[in-house]
Amino acid sequence: MSVRLQLNGVLIEENDVSPSMTVLDYLRESKGLKGTKEGCAEGDCGACTIAIQSGLGKVEAVNSCLMLVPQLDGMSVVTVEGLSAPDEAMHPVQQAIVDKHAAQCGFCTPGFVMALYAYTQTGDVVTPESVHEAIAGNLCRCTGYRPIVEAAFSVASRVDKFIPPAMEQSEYYTDGDEDYFAPTSIDQLVALRSEHPDAHILAGGTDLGMRASKDRQPYGQVISTAHVGEINRIERDDEAVTFGAAVTYTSALPALDEIAPSFAQLVRRIGSRQIRNLGTIGGNICNASPIGDTLPCLIALNAVMIARGPNGQREIPVDDFFTDYRKTALGVDEVLEAICVPIPSSDLVFRAYKISKRFDQDISAVVGAFAITVEDGVVASVRIAFGGMAATPARALACEAALIGQPWSLGTAIAVGLALTEDFTPLTDFRASQDYRTRVARNLLQRLHLDTTQEAVPVEVMAL
Ligand SMILES: Cc1cc2nc3c(=O)[nH]c(=O)nc-3n(C[C@H](O)[C@H](O)[C@H](O)COP(=O)(O)OP(=O)(O)OC[C@H]3O[C@@H](n4cnc5c(N)ncnc54)[C@H](O)[C@@H]3O)c2cc1C
Ligand code: FES
Ligand code: FES
Repeated sequence: MSVRLQLNGVLIEENDVSPSMTVLDYLRESKGLKGTKEGCAEGDCGACTIAIQSGLGKVEAVNSCLMLVPQLDGMSVVTVEGLSAPDEAMHPVQQAIVDKHAAQCGFCTPGFVMALYAYTQTGDVVTPESVHEAIAGNLCRCTGYRPIVEAAFSVASRVDKFIPPAMEQSEYYTDGDEDYFAPTSIDQLVALRSEHPDAHILAGGTDLGMRASKDRQPYGQVISTAHVGEINRIERDDEAVTFGAAVTYTSALPALDEIAPSFAQLVRRIGSRQIRNLGTIGGNICNASPIGDTLPCLIALNAVMIARGPNGQREIPVDDFFTDYRKTALGVDEVLEAICVPIPSSDLVFRAYKISKRFDQDISAVVGAFAITVEDGVVASVRIAFGGMAATPARALACEAALIGQPWSLGTAIAVGLALTEDFTPLTDFRASQDYRTRVARNLLQRLHLDTTQEAVPVEVMAL
């Protein structure tokens, strides 16, 4: 089978492209579309931004350096070359960049143009926050961001919507050496996992994609979860919201906003919009990094991981899921199917705080997540989890024990913070020292107290 896509309006069928080729290399080297630039090759700079759209779905900006060519199967792709009208008049986004003097050397400009083009297609209300969020994944080293933001404001509501044709998708693609499987059901996914135990499971590829973009390593065999219907949906009942493991951050946000707004705010700080359009909660969990941002939140919220293997489904409490540094309780023949997040009761307060050097597009030094109920001024229940403090994201059990039954006061928050030294002996690395991590984790308890008792006091960085 082949990879079929619509590239800048032209239907294309590819039969001999390596499944390990990045979309960026494909565009630049195979298609000669050099407007899409390579800056960092790891999802950080946005120079390689393109817009993708599947079926009647929405247009989304993504980093082409992190994607593999077969991920485009069935999609419509727009690069900066595809934006101009047939008479070669500039697209309104490009014209706005010119009119507002929003480019100097121009290296970053195609990436900004594509991020803004996708933004104009989202239907987002145009606010300083949404404009900033839309371009937070794009770096410019010379122009300064004000003219780029002005360009965004001047064009944001002017662009026509584009609906691509629906395209058939392939379930298997090979160049003869490497295989790319794209199963469409959970049973097929599990069967392929058993048949090919060394294959890489690919969700969004924002972690795995580094293998092609940075390490330049072939994949051999890939099993994509993108078209497995059962794990791409979100279900809700009175008790819980169940996120399929392949649900992207962007798709999860509305449900997270409803059940745990602080979790949603933290997710909005994961990478950039380009990363959140591809990256999945399941990928974050299975990557099992000690600094994966969603993990402390899921631990504090007492989520349940739903695994599936040849013997069917099994539930794994989140407390038992992260077994060692980057290791999980998933069996070799299992995949993560879904994540069940209990809906917090009305008296439960949930907060998540991410500490990183930059607000946007940065990996955490420490993440603290807190789920607490207070009855008559006394802490009645609490689950606290941290990332960045140990080899795995983990609960702060000594701190929880010190807090339960205590009056919820600033004095208590300061005192129980000391118990964190029983829970964690964090590492020093280039992100933060052991001392910094320990202090900041303690301070987050005070922040939690401020946040839950003095709502007028701002505790987040805010755009003014
Ligand atoms: C520029 C950039 C910024 C980033 N910023 C952040 C950040 O701020 N915070 C953060 O936490 N992370 C960040 N990340 C990391 C990454 O985006 C997240 O970890 C993301 O959630 C990974 O999801 P994915 O779908 O892309 O996973 P993939 O890369 O597709 O997969 C990740 C791992 O999970 C496995 N896997 C995926 N799905 C399943 C499944 N269903 N069953 C079994 N195994 C599976 C894969 O085999 C692989 O080992 C960043 C990455 C980049 C490139
Ligand atoms: S080249 Fe920098 S994000 Fe892709
Ligand atoms: S205009 Fe030079 S990097 Fe942005």
